[in-house]
This record gives sequence, structure tokens and C-alpha cells, in this order.
Amino acid sequence: MNLISIAIDGPAGAGKSTIAKRIAEIMNLLYIDTGAMYRAITLKLLNKNISFADKKMIEKILKNTKIQFINNCIFLDGINVNEEIRKPMINENVSKIAALPFVRERLVKLQRDIAKNNNVIMDGRDIGTRVLPDAKYKFFLTASINERAKRRFMELKEKGYDYSYDEIVKEITNRDKMDSERAFDPLKKAEDAILIDTTGKDIDEVINIILSKIRKIN
Ligand code: C5P
Repeated sequence: MNLISIAIDGPAGAGKSTIAKRIAEIMNLLYIDTGAMYRAITLKLLNKNISFADKKMIEKILKNTKIQFINNCIFLDGINVNEEIRKPMINENVSKIAALPFVRERLVKLQRDIAKNNNVIMDGRDIGTRVLPDAKYKFFLTASINERAKRRFMELKEKGYDYSYDEIVKEITNRDKMDSERAFDPLKKAEDAILIDTTGKDIDEVINIILSKIRKIN
């Protein structure tokens, strides 16, 4: 059986997850938010007060960590942490954990195992370059820093967080810098990925562009 794999990569706030979720519904695919996996590990390490320099301890914890997706929610060791992993504290720390090669190795394996058994749409930073290099459909979404910060600002405001626009610009810029400059599997457009600049486009427009590209590739 030929399984479908769609890779969606791009910087923070480019609209990847909203768009991937909607395409998953339309095409009846499993949506895998790989950023949520890195966030969940970060949450566990912060909760346990583990130093990010303690490689041995992090490796031990990784071995004893269960990550599952149930109904588009992420479960960490059996507990739904979908809301908790979006907190600013996690935003501030996740890229440090995501830069550790042994953390990436473990999560990439998990992501590939899921794609081996399911029709998937996966979003992240290294899906097209590293996790699913043979995916038939690859997209790289971008948007201007102003637009991405505006989206994040609205999202945080709706959740009751009082962050200034400038603080958000700084957070996103820092995270993108760390994600693009890390040595292992940095944020990068795969050569064969289709680039879509979502600045000034609404979600439906971007979804329609992606769906029409998929029809053309078929
Ligand atoms: O997609 P999201 O913003 O939730 O991702 C959180 C962080 O997880 C990113 O800033 C990045 O450091 C890391 N990440 C990654 N590789 C992925 C997905 C996310 O390094 N495939």
C-alpha cells in the first residue's frame, strides 16, 4: 500500500499547524505536530528541574518518556499536555532542547515510525530535509516577521497572556535564529519543497494553494 506523506516546514508563526490540521481533515490524514514533541520533552525536563547540560540524565529521561497523539492532542506519559506546552516558558526553552542531537535522534525515529504506518501530514523544521526526505509533497511556509508576530500576539492574547508585540518579535526572532543556526538538522527549506509566502494571505487561501499543488503533483 502506498502511504501519503506531506511535509510542512517553516519558521515559528508561519501558520503551519493551523494549515496542516485543516488539510489533515480534508484529506483524512493523521496530523503530527512534531514541535509539540520537542515542547513536551522540554516541559518534562523543566518540571523535573533537570539541567539542560546534564546529557546523561536527559538521555535517561528520554528513554522513560511516552509521547502519544490522541485526537490531535499530545499526551506526555499518559497526561494531556496540549495547553501546557504552549506556555511562554516552553517557547523560551524549547530550541535549546531541540538543538541536542540525541533528543532529535529519538524524536525523528518516533516520527518516522508513525509515517511508516499511517497517511500523515507532519509539520516542523526538518521534516522535508531529515524526517521524511522522500515525501512526495513538501512545502515550506514563511511570512514576514511582522505578520508572524501579529498572529502570535493575537493567539497569546486570546489565551490571556499579556505579552507586548515587541517581546513576541524578540522571542520569535531568537527561536528562529537558534533553529536555523544549530548544527544538527537546522530549519531549512528542502531543495524540492514548494515555498509559500503566507504574508497577507488568509488560511483558506494558503490551504487552496497547497491542495492545488498536491493535485498537480499527482
Ligand atoms: O512548531 P513549534 O513552534 O511548536 O516548535 C517548537 C520548537 O521545536 C521549534 O522552535 C524548534 O526549536 C523545535 N522543533 C524542531 N524540529 C521540528 C519541530 C520543532 O527543532 N521538527
